[in-house]
Amino acid sequence: MISNNSNHRVLAMLIALATYTFAFGAPESAHMFEGQDDEQPDAVCGRDCITGITAGIVGLNLRTPVCASPEFIRKIVLPPPPPSAQWSGPENCVNGTCIFSNVVQNGGISLITSPQHADIIKSYDIDADGGAYPPPFYTEQIEGKGIGLRANRSIVKGEVLMTRGATLIAQTEALIEWEVAVRDTMYDAAMARLPKGRRDAFLAQMGRDVHDKINKNSFQFFIHGAGEERARHLAAYPDIAKFNHDCRPNVHYRITDATITTIAARDIQRGEELAISYTDIFLPSKQRKERIQNWGFECACALCQGPKNETIASDKRLRRIEKLKADLNNFKEIKVTAETGAEYATLHEEEGLHAHLGSAYTRAALNFALFGDEERSREYAWRAAEELSIEKGPESGDAQAMRELAENPRAHWTWGKRRTLKK
Ligand SMILES: *[C@@H]1O[C@H](CO)[C@@H](O)[C@H](O)[C@H]1NC(C)=O
Ligand SMILES: *[C@@H]1O[C@H](CO)[C@@H](O)[C@H](O)[C@H]1NC(C)=O
Ligand SMILES: *[C@@H]1O[C@H](CO)[C@@H](O)[C@H](O)[C@H]1NC(C)=O
Repeated sequence: MISNNSNHRVLAMLIALATYTFAFGAPESAHMFEGQDDEQPDAVCGRDCITGITAGIVGLNLRTPVCASPEFIRKIVLPPPPPSAQWSGPENCVNGTCIFSNVVQNGGISLITSPQHADIIKSYDIDADGGAYPPPFYTEQIEGKGIGLRANRSIVKGEVLMTRGATLIAQTEALIEWEVAVRDTMYDAAMARLPKGRRDAFLAQMGRDVHDKINKNSFQFFIHGAGEERARHLAAYPDIAKFNHDCRPNVHYRITDATITTIAARDIQRGEELAISYTDIFLPSKQRKERIQNWGFECACALCQGPKNETIASDKRLRRIEKLKADLNNFKEIKVTAETGAEYATLHEEEGLHAHLGSAYTRAALNFALFGDEERSREYAWRAAEELSIEKGPESGDAQAMRELAENPRAHWTWGKRRTLKK
């Protein structure tokens, strides 16, 4: 019932780790990965190397071309197809992973994935650009952070800011396994299949080259089906990548069928910067700062930069949240009372975890039901339903489940299961 948000903005190291560990042992930082990447072309090319051929053919001005074997290059099928609503592909298959593209859907989209996953993605109802109009924000160069988005009017909690369909979707496993030259040639082919506008927007993202841009700006989501439990994919949404990081973000996002929706997680004042979290929001300060360095900048959010006593207080709350969560999940833990869930929820509020109140209130509501407290179970279930409608959508299963609990706690499967209410 409580599902973790599995769509995390992807850590730069996700792909890098696998490559790096293989080549050099334990990975430490983005910096080390960049060193490794820079050295690769020499290692891979040797003397028979053809450089820049894919970029040359389609007139792309990509990064310094990497090399690929002549045999591989010959497999690339170009020129681009005429505009039509039809999907192209499979093309350029390497070990069962191919390029698929559609120049009409969503204004242009390329996939690097297996035919089975491509079929699932093709069945998605990928939305074109949507959201509040005119946009209640503008793009701005933000001191020390690069491009960012700033609210130009007050924004109400729950307002949908932007919805975007993916521009590029790539199956993570393939990117991890391929040699750099193969991988980069696939990137070139995927880029060549995008209409110019979409390609320019992709290439305008932060990062040295296509791989680095995918690493630093992609969002992770999972495709279920096709005979596997779940297949990790990375999706690029160049407009959404303009949101900077904040440890306590005012914007929440969710990905449904490769479409991302960004929503105000709380009321936002005119002039505030709009931000999402690039990392797991429950990380303590030390790890949070380390992770953020993977993007090549220092954590500059209020929580990272604020007074030490505030950081200590925050870490303490986060530890308490983790402890209470374990206790609430453990039916043998006798210290848990009806109030434990409420304390858990209050800590989220105090910590400013606006985008995660849905699951916190859900736990509190269920815990009150488990202890047979009808009134408070109802109260928290309504709150949970309200938050989940924002976080996951009004029709989401989680929001509906909380509405059902709120309507009749006594009929819920949890009712009185933990202990009878001690008055
Ligand atoms: C906010 O900025 C957008 C884009 O520049 C503009 O269309 C809109 O009118 C602005 N809204 C306000 C309230 O200034
Ligand atoms: C394809 O898979 C084979 C067997 O696993 C492997 O040896 C080969 O290097 C792979 N080719 C590429 C281009 O990754
Ligand atoms: C941290 O210190 C400041 C200034 O001394 C104080 O105003 C604030 O309440 C303190 N915060 C915490 C969480 O103790």
